[in-house]
Amino acid sequence: MIREARDYTFIDYIDDDAARKEYFERIYSDIDDPWGQLGTKHGPLGSDFYSETQHFLTRRITSVLGAEKFRFAEIGCGLGNLTHLLTRTFPSFTVSGYDLSQNAVRKAKQRFPETDFCQLDILQNAVVPQCECILLSNVVWYLLHDIERLVNSLFLSFTFGDSSNYLLIQNPYFFNGQRYYNNLLRAPEQCLDLLSGHLEKHGIEVSAYFSSRLVKSAWGYYYGYSEFKLTQRT
Ligand SMILES: C[S@@+](CC[C@H](N)C(=O)[O-])C[C@H]1O[C@@H](n2cnc3c(N)ncnc32)[C@H](O)[C@@H]1O
Repeated sequence: MIREARDYTFIDYIDDDAARKEYFERIYSDIDDPWGQLGTKHGPLGSDFYSETQHFLTRRITSVLGAEKFRFAEIGCGLGNLTHLLTRTFPSFTVSGYDLSQNAVRKAKQRFPETDFCQLDILQNAVVPQCECILLSNVVWYLLHDIERLVNSLFLSFTFGDSSNYLLIQNPYFFNGQRYYNNLLRAPEQCLDLLSGHLEKHGIEVSAYFSSRLVKSAWGYYYGYSEFKLTQRT
């Protein structure tokens, strides 16, 4: 039985899709609050982390996306806190949360019956219906082993209609001791290098880019935010 999600925070990759799903299903069946994502615990990924990052994110979305009628998807929504917060804070958006784990989605629906949640593996499927804004919050570590598949699904998930499309990525980054993907992603600014080449293959340009760090050195990590405004080349 898994008792703490801490050991499972940043896995190397599991290249079998079914095994990867099973791994997250077990976490959500064995642990009430994996990674302390409910924000009620103190500690490295505890309440401070979640309240500060949520505050930053909602302020940023307000200033960048404003009150437009965006369709917004959170991929890897887990128990649904952030999806629910966005649904409540931005009533003009249509917000949906997607997670690989059916157990997580079931629990999220129980916690927030009025919020929209669906089971989905972003490495296998695009978001349906398509949307203008996608958030990856504390999930990108689990997707890095297959960036080609990730970017292809994101490409198929965006509308690329008249309004701009946005990809928002937030994550903790480690000062030392990051175990995996040191070559790919050690800081939010590196997200641009990481994704732009792959996006270009689909004819997508990053027309604006913003990144930020909220430093929490006491815990050995900082919170990083990367924001991409995407346009399809004509
Ligand atoms: C650390 S939790 C993050 C939860 C929430 N977004 C937050 O910031 O608190 C990572 C989540 O990503 C989900 N996940 C992992 N791989 C995924 C995939 N391929 N497609 C969709 N969700 C995935 C896991 O099931 C897990 O719920």
